[in-house]
Amino acid sequence: MTTIPKLRLEHVTKGFDVRGSQDRFTAIDDVSIDVAEGEFLVLVGPSGCGKSTLLDLLGGLSIPTSGRILLDGRPVTGPGLDRGIVFQQYALLPWRTARHNIEFGLEAKGLPRSERRERADHYLELVGLSGFGDRYPHELSGGMKQRVAIARSLAFDPEVLLMDEPFAALDAQTRESLQDELLRIWKATGKTIVFITHGIDEAIHLGQRVAVLTSRPGRVKAVVDIDIDRTAADVRSDERFRHHRHHIWSLLHDEVQKARTNERESVHV
Ligand SMILES: Nc1ncnc2c1ncn2[C@@H]1O[C@H](COP(=O)(O)OP(=O)(O)O)[C@@H](O)[C@H]1O
Ligand SMILES: [Mg+2]
Repeated sequence: MTTIPKLRLEHVTKGFDVRGSQDRFTAIDDVSIDVAEGEFLVLVGPSGCGKSTLLDLLGGLSIPTSGRILLDGRPVTGPGLDRGIVFQQYALLPWRTARHNIEFGLEAKGLPRSERRERADHYLELVGLSGFGDRYPHELSGGMKQRVAIARSLAFDPEVLLMDEPFAALDAQTRESLQDELLRIWKATGKTIVFITHGIDEAIHLGQRVAVLTSRPGRVKAVVDIDIDRTAADVRSDERFRHHRHHIWSLLHDEVQKARTNERESVHV
């Protein structure tokens, strides 16, 4: 029996019209990859390589120019409650408390008030924010806001969690503790996670597999299986971790150089 992947990208290409010209700009080029149910897949690539473009496609916020994206074998044609998205910017509603931000998606789902509240409190606890439900976003630190954003995405019980550099704006210490929290949440919920980052350490720490993207246009350069012991006290100093870091660094190094050259060229034309 063949099992259907949770998510399948089939030769996905995305181009944009270049304003004031007949040219097309290719942001994502022929990306094919499967994500298994319950898998934690990380996509790592240099800035501007098309990561957010790819995440928007997975979220159904835009559609591929060619190729297709399948969720449980069915084509994705638009946004849906089966996919939760966490962006780099916290995207919380400033006039709503943490709890009411989490309840937001549940209102759209038509859940009764008491059930919304119960669920919001459950997810506040899951992200380590019990007792902060009545705070407004401006009363929360960056890390706490991002926890609320994660809780909000989880609260409507999506099948897949899509995360676009969610910890990039946080300080290093907060970022590391949120990475650990996310791994714990992933284990507790069994969600399928597609996580995007430009950070190599973050990619290795989180991903069961890491797909390395090329610089413009974004293609899959390599997919690396990560076999590290995440229970180790200082996982980043582990031998296998350092091995993966060097490998992925080497893969990305060429791409960063290429991106710089492209940038210089586009500045001079
Ligand atoms: N709506 C759009 N129209 C035209 N170009 C776009 C659009 N969205 C993104 N791009 C371009 O596609 C490339 C990839 O962007 P993006 O996916 O945001 O990269 P990343 O998230 O990897 O930094 C960039 O060169 C960007 O300018
Ligand atoms: Mg981006």
